[in-house]
Amino acid sequence: MPDVLLDGRTLRVTEGTSVAAALALAGDGCTRTSVSGQRRAPLCGMGICQECRVTIDGRRRLACQTLCREGMHVETHP
Ligand code: FES
Repeated sequence: MPDVLLDGRTLRVTEGTSVAAALALAGDGCTRTSVSGQRRAPLCGMGICQECRVTIDGRRRLACQTLCREGMHVETHP
């Protein structure tokens, strides 16, 4: 069961949990803030809409297409 760091909070998830699911488990499920200041969250869950972009270990990734790994750092407020 990997431990991931979500905006500074540690969360233990089961193997195979996507980052999008981990964010939903940890709180409101939001992944980023739009240029107009609105919080955004995953929409399609299959890599199409790009609404789930987050920063994972310093790189922009799709939360719905990325599985949690031990020690992963996820930021929704880069
Ligand atoms: S939720 Fe649409 S690309 Fe991830």
